[in-house]
Amino acid sequence: MKYMWEGRFKEKAEKDIIDFTKSIDIDKKLAIYDIEGSIAHVKMLFKVGLITKKEKEEILDGLKKIKKEINENKLKFLPTDEDIHTVVERRLIELIGKTGEKLHTARSRNDQIVLDEKLFLRDEIIYLIKQIISLQNCFLKKSEECFDIIISSYTHLKQSQPVLLSHYFLAYIEKLERDKERFLESYKRVNIFPLGVGACAGTSLPIDREYTAKLLNFPAISKNSLDTVSDRDFLIEVVFCCVLTLIHLSSFSQDLIIWNMDEIDFVKLPDRYCTGSSLMPHKKNPDVFELIRGKTSSCIGLFTGLLTLVKGLPLSYNRDLQEDKKPLFEIIEITKSILKIISKVVPKIEFNKEIIKNKISSFTLSTDIAEYLVKKGKPFREAYIIVGNIVNYCIENNKTFFSLTLDEFKKFSQVFENDIFKILNFESSVNVKISDGGTSSINVKREIGRWKKKLEKSLDLIISLEKGVSILRK
Ligand code: ARG
Repeated sequence: MKYMWEGRFKEKAEKDIIDFTKSIDIDKKLAIYDIEGSIAHVKMLFKVGLITKKEKEEILDGLKKIKKEINENKLKFLPTDEDIHTVVERRLIELIGKTGEKLHTARSRNDQIVLDEKLFLRDEIIYLIKQIISLQNCFLKKSEECFDIIISSYTHLKQSQPVLLSHYFLAYIEKLERDKERFLESYKRVNIFPLGVGACAGTSLPIDREYTAKLLNFPAISKNSLDTVSDRDFLIEVVFCCVLTLIHLSSFSQDLIIWNMDEIDFVKLPDRYCTGSSLMPHKKNPDVFELIRGKTSSCIGLFTGLLTLVKGLPLSYNRDLQEDKKPLFEIIEITKSILKIISKVVPKIEFNKEIIKNKISSFTLSTDIAEYLVKKGKPFREAYIIVGNIVNYCIENNKTFFSLTLDEFKKFSQVFENDIFKILNFESSVNVKISDGGTSSINVKREIGRWKKKLEKSLDLIISLEKGVSILRK
């Protein structure tokens, strides 16, 4: 192909400038989507009479050949190729000649890149949602498996109140559910068709955007050309969804790193998911979880970069936007790999039940004692102080709640009776937490059942989403 802007320019760009401005090394990832978008565009050009049937067929034939080359990794890039759009156009003209020059009718790379990104993101969102559902299923299985384990919950990393370990895993299912909902919400905005707004103002040619949108299964088209070529909200939203999912998984990793400390030793991680030290022969480190934390930090950085990229850009398209793809691809790849890794590791985590049991302090029952006093008519604030005094007494006399006699309890309040001993155990503490959302076994069992049904239904959701994606990487 000739130099693209030959007409206007008297001299060719310098090699350094070409190298500096090109993005092919990154946006080649969108090749397959670029072709699919072009196929639909060409069909529309024929429908409205901008190209003949013969021209349409020649172009479609050429595009199919390029698609095959892409799939077989045979599409060659030249040093002068700027981006994926110009590569496809150049190759098309090489393959079919002059007719190929009609492909770009009523289209600009400014709207084309938005379409490519949206086609890519529709696929990726579906894949990410699938991964989230399978991770939720992993957590659910673990939750069932751990139903008999009571662990202290923590606030401020200090022992708080006993909970079922199942309840802990259900908490992560909830977080992931919100992540899933957020991705679905972002999908709506990704699913608005951008092509046909041209460089920024629309076109005088008689195109039919609704038709192209329909071919590519977009339920709606964008309404303002200036907005369409400058909008990257859709992309930033998806990236935000990734980052928040990662933040959740990073917190989960942090718990595991702590639980895996020698001093705590609540979990046993399988050798095959750990790594050793190059120097200290005894070490078995939870590097995978540390890297999840670390990679989450990198993604937050990339996300901040994206926000900074669009901040203060004047309307409409600006070349700065070309820089959106590198962080986008990286964040999506990292998110997918972390979801995959965690799904592999979670089923293999073993809990050291005895250690967990021995490490819970009797003081985690302090709120139960205060609530006992409330039930006997004490105002909560007074009950709180009474129990605080008992805790102090225990600490000073090297006792636990379990070693106190009724007489000792009575020293702090006459309200104490023998029934205090019934509530002084972790099982009963857990099982009285029957308020909605509480950790009682009845609640937790009900929640496990609810999630089982809900996650089965999630599969229907995926099937319906996949139907919405016309052609692509199914
Ligand atoms: N590669 C560009 C991008 O990623 C699209 C090309 C637009 N180039 C231009 N000079 N208007 O955004």
